[in-house]
Amino acid sequence: MLVSFLCLFLFLVPTLLVQSSDTNASSMSAAARALDAFLQDYAYRAFVRPKTGVLYEGVAPSNLTGVQTAGMRLRSGSLWTRGVEMYKEFKILVGVVEQPYVERLVLVYQNLGNWFLWYYPLQNYTYLAPVLGLLASNASDLSAKNLPELDLREEEKEEELT
Ligand SMILES: *[C@@H]1O[C@H](CO)[C@@H](O)[C@H](O)[C@H]1NC(C)=O
Ligand SMILES: *[C@@H]1O[C@H](CO)[C@@H](O)[C@H](O)[C@H]1NC(C)=O
Ligand SMILES: *[C@@H]1O[C@H](CO)[C@@H](O)[C@H](O)[C@H]1NC(C)=O
Ligand SMILES: *[C@@H]1O[C@H](CO)[C@@H](O)[C@H](O)[C@H]1NC(C)=O
Repeated sequence: MLVSFLCLFLFLVPTLLVQSSDTNASSMSAAARALDAFLQDYAYRAFVRPKTGVLYEGVAPSNLTGVQTAGMRLRSGSLWTRGVEMYKEFKILVGVVEQPYVERLVLVYQNLGNWFLWYYPLQNYTYLAPVLGLLASNASDLSAKNLPELDLREEEKEEELT
């Protein structure tokens, strides 16, 4: 899961960059993984003939009040060349690619609200702001369940020194 600590200065920092978190899927707890799959399913359900690049609000699971989900379907090429100007609190910069490559992808948004601590306990630390996630998955088959997450990363820009 892509986790981003949203600071209180969000409005002063308009380019919140999507970054890969330190944790990778294998080190995530089983509960957190199950939650991702569950919320992915909820977000996918919001899609009925989705338009590309349009944000669809998901329906929050009834046993997880306060959790928000949303989904957006994108062409991979458009993500790379244009990014996403505004996706909830996120802005995705130009030059982000998913791995492995898919032609179309869905970006699933999650705001776990107070449930975050339940799934991602941190000892001796306090989260000062809501923790938001953005997960990418293959959009070729919107009725699929339990799709693996794709990695989002910023293409390294090669600088020529001469
Ligand atoms: C990520 O997973 C790979 C194996 O899949 C493991 O070798 C590596 O140490 C993990 N990295 C982190 C930061 O957990
Ligand atoms: C909510 O319900 C789903 C299945 O209906 C379950 O997998 C999940 O663990 C539940 N979450 C909580 C926090 O009870
Ligand atoms: C949290 O604090 C307690 C007491 O100071 C300490 O024993 C424990 O190792 C800390 N845990 C972590 C993960 O830092
Ligand atoms: C994406 O889904 C399509 C249709 O299910 C499949 O053919 C393709 O191999 C998938 N791509 C990846 C990278 O999983």
